[in-house]
Amino acid sequence: MAFGDLKAPAPDSLLALMSRFRDDPRPRKIDLGVGIYRDSRGATPVFNAVKLAEQQLWKRQSTKAYLGSLGDTDFVSLLARRALAADNLAGLQTVGGTGALRLAAELLSLTLPHRQIWLGVPTWSNHLPIFKAAGLKTRTVELFAADSLRYRPDALREALREAKRGDAVLLHACCHNPTGVDPEFAFWLSIADEIRERGLVPLVDMAYQGMGLGWDQDCAGLALLVDRLPNLLVAYSCDKNFGLYRERVGALFVRAGTARETATLIDHLGALARTDYSMPPDHGAAVVRVILQSPELTALWEEELTGMRSRIRGLRNALAAQGRVGAVDLSPLAAGNGLFAVLPLSPAQIDSLQADHAIYMAPSGRINIAGLAGGDLAPFVNALQAVQHQRAVLA
Ligand SMILES: Cc1ncc(COP(=O)(O)O)c(C=O)c1O
Repeated sequence: MAFGDLKAPAPDSLLALMSRFRDDPRPRKIDLGVGIYRDSRGATPVFNAVKLAEQQLWKRQSTKAYLGSLGDTDFVSLLARRALAADNLAGLQTVGGTGALRLAAELLSLTLPHRQIWLGVPTWSNHLPIFKAAGLKTRTVELFAADSLRYRPDALREALREAKRGDAVLLHACCHNPTGVDPEFAFWLSIADEIRERGLVPLVDMAYQGMGLGWDQDCAGLALLVDRLPNLLVAYSCDKNFGLYRERVGALFVRAGTARETATLIDHLGALARTDYSMPPDHGAAVVRVILQSPELTALWEEELTGMRSRIRGLRNALAAQGRVGAVDLSPLAAGNGLFAVLPLSPAQIDSLQADHAIYMAPSGRINIAGLAGGDLAPFVNALQAVQHQRAVLA
């Protein structure tokens, strides 16, 4: 049998967590695992702006004929202008942010002299597998000081002194996944210099614009790189900030030294897309395009995004106001951005939160803050206290 010797792949821990949560019969359970926005009722509703754009599409769309490997090019240029305020970036529509990262990795694997990419860890759990699958060598840099949970985004900049010309470096634009800790603006100034002087290629992952400090603020570091660097790739996801997760909406933006080189890059990316999946799915990107083409729908979408951002900020502040819960200091959460934070809990404590309190979080201690529905804060804090107390009693 051709597949007889095949071993099962390592399970994806977050997907496994999702199904365990679904199967948990306890009536009061809290899902802090999966990285999606939830409202105070624990729902992830479709934006009203999206519903209205879908109505328009349904009425007006006259064909579903193929669009081509670059996808919806109007969506791409509207997004470049709206998100990055840039007219000088070329791009193509991709299958979500993941698809943009994968295409970027394939392009880098094809073109970089040492096929090497540097990235800080911890990072989104799919980054390393994507880069490795595309044939890149990965060089990781610990972003947490070894003796504490103090976060050091500058460690990456320092490590890059060892990088070779033409190496790539991955940067999170905002709302760092998993830590929620974003660097100061000074970091972007210094890393831009480092990248230019050392001839590196930045790949910036922008998956949460508008969910941190604000639309423009979340893009301030990336905008600086766009302004200053001759070569650049940006993997953009619209899945969170338009609530379109399963529609798989994203784009990859690129810039090379000259317009001709940039056009050649786009041709290569189109060819890579053609062999990967031929063309991206249309619907979600068409929805984003319809929203961005309409001032009314854009205003409605911005209002809804602002509501999401305020709820996340409110939860961060409420958690931070608890201060120390046992040995876990929640106060730094106020200074973080976006959905995520990492709590310094042991595997046994994380297991006990799940087994004894029906609170689910990633094995790394990452929590999705928006997973706390109305009324969940007190039970969460009490459980956090209880699992640490339990350990103290058992010790
Ligand atoms: C940092 C980061 N980049 C990219 C992605 C991928 O987003 P998408 O769902 O659009 O593929 C995610 C999703 O969780 C993410 O957290």
